[in-house]
Order: sequence, then C-alpha cells, then structure tokens
Amino acid sequence: MRIFITTAFGLEAVVARELEKMGYSDIATENGRITLNGSYEDVYRLNVNVSAGERVLICVGEFRATSFDQLFDNTKHLPWEYYIPANGAIPVDAKSVNSALFSLSDCQRIVKKAIVERLKTGHSTSTLPETGPRYPVIVSIHNDIAQLMIDTSGDGLHKRGWRAHAGDAPLKETLANAMAALSFWRPERPLIDPMCGSGTILIESALREMHVAPGHARSFVCDGWKQLPFDLTESIRREAAAKDRSEQIRPMLDICGYDIDRRVLETARRNAKDAGVADIIHFQQRDFAELSSKKQYGCIITNPPYGERIGDKSAIKKIYSAFRNAMKELPTWSFYVLTADENFENEICRKADKKRKLYIGRIKVDYYQFYGPRPPKKDN
Ligand SMILES: C[S@@+](CC[C@H](N)C(=O)[O-])C[C@H]1O[C@@H](n2cnc3c(N)ncnc32)[C@H](O)[C@@H]1O
Repeated sequence: MRIFITTAFGLEAVVARELEKMGYSDIATENGRITLNGSYEDVYRLNVNVSAGERVLICVGEFRATSFDQLFDNTKHLPWEYYIPANGAIPVDAKSVNSALFSLSDCQRIVKKAIVERLKTGHSTSTLPETGPRYPVIVSIHNDIAQLMIDTSGDGLHKRGWRAHAGDAPLKETLANAMAALSFWRPERPLIDPMCGSGTILIESALREMHVAPGHARSFVCDGWKQLPFDLTESIRREAAAKDRSEQIRPMLDICGYDIDRRVLETARRNAKDAGVADIIHFQQRDFAELSSKKQYGCIITNPPYGERIGDKSAIKKIYSAFRNAMKELPTWSFYVLTADENFENEICRKADKKRKLYIGRIKVDYYQFYGPRPPKKDN
C-alpha cells in the first residue's frame, strides 16, 4: 500500500530521518508529507513510533477530477472493498485547494455515495449498516488532482495521551519533539526551558531521549480493524516497549523548567506526572531575568511569548534583554529559540548559527539556533 505521513510544514526532513532510523529506505518527501510503501503492520508501527508526524494515511487512489461525474466515477472505480468491510462506518472529510471542485459538502456527499455503491457490489450486499469500526475517508483535491485516503490515526499523533492540561499558548507535542531532535541536546547535558509553560518541550525531550514510543499510551482509529488483529497490534506495542531505555537514561537527565506564572507550572507538573517524567523534570517559578546556572555546556530550548496573544511589548523587551544576559552569563551553553519574531536576532544582538523556517498551523516561525562550544569528550 502507499502510505502517507503528514507533517507540519518544515518538519518533513525530521520525520524522514526518523523513518530512516526505523529502517525505511524507500521514502519520498514532499511539502507537508512523506510517502512510503508498506503493509498494515507498517501502518500500526508508524502510528506508535513516529514522533514528529501528524497522521498516518493509506492512499487508496489518485486521479484528475474537474467535474462531479469524474469524481464519482473515479472514486467508484477504486477497490474500496479491499480496505473497508461491509459493516465499516465511513465518515468522509473533504479539502479543496485551487480546484474546480470547491464545494466541500458536495465533494463529501459524492465520494460517500460512490464508496457506498462500490462496497455494495464488492461485498455483494444491499445494505451497509455502518455499525462496525470507523474508516475515516479524506478526499483532498489540489490543483484538480483528487487524492482519496483513509485515516488510520484518528486523533492527530501530537495527542500522546499525557497532556490533558495546557497553558495559554502550548506547543504541539510533535513540534516540541522536533525542536529537541533539531538540537544538540543529549542526556549528558543539562537542559532548561526558562519559559516552559505547560512543559511540552521538556517532557517531549525527556521521552524522546528515553526512547519512549510517542504513541504507546493512546489508541488509534485503526485499532479494531480486521486487518489489524489484536495480537498483531499488541506485538507491535511490545516491540516498541522493548526499545524503552528509561531506566538507563533517567539517572543521567538534568532537566529544569521555569516560568513566571505559578499556575501554569501546576499544569506542567501534572503533565509531567501523566507522562511518567515527574521525577525527572524540576519545575520552579522564576523570572527569566533571574536565570543563572553553574553548570556547563547546557542547552536552553524554549519558545518565548510573542505577539498579540500573550505578553505585552515592554514585557517582551525585558525577555530579550534577559536573553542577552543569559548568553553572556552562560557562554558554554547553546540556545534554541522558536519565535515568530523575524527581528529576534537584532533584538538580542546576536546572529544565529542556524535558522530554520517552521510553521505553527499557518503561522511562520523561525527556530533560531545559537551554538555554544562542544562539550569536551569524556575519557572512557
Ligand atoms: C509561548 S508560552 C510557552 C509555551 C510552552 N512551550 C508550552 O508548550 O506550554 C510562553 C511562556 O512564557 C512565560 N513567561 C512570560 N514571561 C516570562 C518571564 N519573564 N520569565 C519566565 N517566563 C515567562 C509565560 O508565562 C508562558 O507560559
């Protein structure tokens, strides 16, 4: 089967690298998506293990459609009975960009009708009760090319199952994970998020280094599909659990989260507890302006407040001044800062060693990376 893993714009290479580490070699990267060939077993393995991807989809077919007749006929031509059983529930979602077919409700209705007709013939039945497992269909039309896909994830993969609570502007877990992946932080180096909010960056960083499978604590819409019997999904979950290195890595970790807001820290503590890392991350109320550390070669990974949503201009000026101080006071540390402020380098009077364009939904942000010196090699 052709499998798509959707990603936030800018994270494609991070996900591609993850897939290579998982042993997948024949992968193609496009804007917001990775494509590979695989089986249902792969579908489940990807759902459980991919850290920075958003969703795992099965591509059923792709064709050009500029009229509803074409959309209907081509959809009906696809082998839906191979994917969806006679009792499968079939919600249909539609997206259209720059295409002749732009009425989403009509696209949904026509695709649904075509699938139903095909399934009736394919399963030799006159009724489809839709009382069984859900097979959510997505029709996405881009420049008149329609892609018909089945979602296997259900909730987006950023929902790990541990974050029941969030602060004012929480990052998606997938993006926080990617920030850690794109940094030089390793378990032997101290890690601080001085404006940690609900703790997402720190929790994801810890789980990532401990090789805790991001999907281990949640379910997927494909749980219960006939193609994925329970013993198969359980063995994939066990295989992921066997890679868990929590016990070895846990004692090495030195992670602190600070925030000026006492309430949000309660949320962060609760999240860390639910994620199983409460004993690892030390949270404390502290103004970024008071940040200090005697430790060397640490990493700061953070996303400071910016813009209308939270924080006012003078508070943000103070935060920028705190960045300038922290960089002076902690010369061996590396700083990783995600912000939508395009003027950030000027504000803190330092040019980033690397800058990477990422997206939070449709908002363009930059991930500024300021490298400290490499830590000295430890003698064995
Ligand atoms: C964009 S949010 C961070 C969100 C966080 N990454 C998460 O996933 O929840 C920015 C945080 O900075 C905190 N903050 C604002 N000014 C601060 C300051 N001077 N010192 C420390 N924290 C501050 C806010 O309370 C807020 O929680």
